[in-house]
Amino acid sequence: MRLRKEWALLVVGLFACGETGQPATTAEQPMKRPRSTMRPLTEGPTVRASVRCAECHEPYAAGWQGSAHARAAKSPYYRALGGDGDERCSACHTPLRGEVPAEDPIHAEGVTCDACHTVSAVGPGGKPGDAGLTFDLAANRKYGSLCDAEDNYFHRVGCAPVFAESRFCGGCHSLEWPVEGGASLAVITDFAEWSSNPGRGTTTCQECHMSGGFGEVSRGWAERDALSRHDLFGADDELLAEGLNLEAQILDEGGGRTIEAVLANRGAAHSIPAGLAGRRLVLSAEFVDGAGERVRQDERVYARILVNAAGDEVVFTQATKAGEDSRIGPGERRVERFDVPQGAAVAQLRVRRFDLGPAVAAGLGMEPSAGQLVLSEDVALGAPPR
Ligand code: HEC
Ligand code: HEC
Ligand code: HEC
Ligand code: HEC
Ligand code: HEC
Repeated sequence: MRLRKEWALLVVGLFACGETGQPATTAEQPMKRPRSTMRPLTEGPTVRASVRCAECHEPYAAGWQGSAHARAAKSPYYRALGGDGDERCSACHTPLRGEVPAEDPIHAEGVTCDACHTVSAVGPGGKPGDAGLTFDLAANRKYGSLCDAEDNYFHRVGCAPVFAESRFCGGCHSLEWPVEGGASLAVITDFAEWSSNPGRGTTTCQECHMSGGFGEVSRGWAERDALSRHDLFGADDELLAEGLNLEAQILDEGGGRTIEAVLANRGAAHSIPAGLAGRRLVLSAEFVDGAGERVRQDERVYARILVNAAGDEVVFTQATKAGEDSRIGPGERRVERFDVPQGAAVAQLRVRRFDLGPAVAAGLGMEPSAGQLVLSEDVALGAPPR
């Protein structure tokens, strides 16, 4: 590695306030790493807000900031469920709760930099209050999968190959919720589905969700080949459209006219929609006439829902059993037919993603959402054949 600007500044700093009056190094001597400026081991747990990491790792912070991980402690949905302050939830949503005092502002950052990068070992997790993560905060060490990185004056580094393995995500991206009678409900199945998907080959979560290009890991340091992106973790990211494919054609059969739409999961190693039970994708077909007025609207919903004893969809904390599962499995193509009504000139096909269903939102007193538009296609219908 070449000499970094930070070291040079540090050496100047040491010289300026040097107690012995001797420079730490001279131009003739080889530069030594100034270990004495390292935070002492006895100082206790060290966690830092993401803004500190941004000083040297700015692109990582920008990517993370726009991702779902940054909102894990404060999204309206999470708050509506009373997650904030509930210790069954904090292991995954505010993972440093058990490690540093409750008043520390770091908790508001949810799944923040240090919540992942102080993890030294990973077990199965997936339970209330248990994400399977072992933290090492004592030595101010940031763990990652680079094993040739060097300590710097701000933090030590730790080589942890588990960061490049799916099980790193698995402890949080699995959730079994206990229900009466000692049974449990599968609430989040991302890791389990990936594990049991024979078509995944060796592709890890990180290869799809984190693969980035060439660049500096830290400002001013030597460039590396493959950085890890931190922006493909939900919140309307570009993976949503990449994972799906929509094709439509007009079918004229038996005197009737239909639109055949094929929605395929072509990019994910798990079902779509992934994540928390109740996430949904909606394929809608809106038929409009020549003046653009709606003639008819039809839709199909893809979701895995949890229900209460009455069979109504509810949030996982109130559910007693699993309901319908209409998600699109890895590699699966879902073929849908929509009848074309009289007078329709265009079929507007739209795929939207919703964090939660309308009944559940209403039950929580949340505003219904318009969803995120993922894909769209307009089919001109022309004149029907005679
Ligand atoms: C959800 C956990 C998680 C969070 C939160 C997270 N990271 Fe990472 N980060 C990872 C993983 C996993 C890797 C390694 C990926 C791999 O090797 O395939 C990584 C890699 C890195 C690396 C090593 C260099 C590289 O490109 O691989 C740096 C530096 C880094 N992250 C900085 C940050 C910063 C700064 C933040 C906060 C702004 C942050 N990370 C938030 C999981 C996380
Ligand atoms: C003063 C600059 C600086 C600050 C601030 C900083 N880092 Fe780093 N970090 C570095 C340097 C330098 C490297 C090594 C870069 C290299 O080898 O290419 C590094 C490497 C890393 C790695 C890779 C470790 C590995 O073995 O894979 C992680 C993870 C990381 N930093 C996380 C963080 C987090 C989290 C924060 C905020 C709490 C942070 N850094 C703040 C300079 C900094
Ligand atoms: C410490 C626990 C934890 C770890 C480790 C973790 N996540 Fe997450 N992840 C969360 C939580 C909590 C959320 C939900 C945040 C929200 O939406 O409020 C989330 C959200 C996401 C989302 C967005 C989901 C959606 O429906 O919008 C994706 C994608 C994701 N994580 C992928 C990953 C991958 C891939 C890894 C491994 C590299 C990983 N996560 C590691 C806890 C974690
Ligand atoms: C082969 C690539 C691939 C692999 C491997 C993969 N994912 Fe995904 N993942 C995707 C794509 C593509 C999407 C977007 C799906 C869509 O269109 O809704 C996605 C979506 C998600 C979402 C929901 C995000 C959202 O915004 O709705 C979560 C959560 C998630 N993945 C977690 C994981 C975890 C955890 C792993 C590993 C156990 C993993 N993924 C492995 C490609 C992958
Ligand atoms: C074992 C880890 C784990 C535990 C424990 C856990 N969660 Fe989560 N939670 C996750 C992960 C991972 C996601 C991301 C999946 C997704 O976004 O689709 C998530 C997503 C969510 C979301 C969606 C957030 C949004 O903004 O859309 C809500 C709400 C939520 N959890 C509430 C809770 C509550 C409330 C508790 C405690 C009663 C809890 N969770 C316990 C891992 C966990």
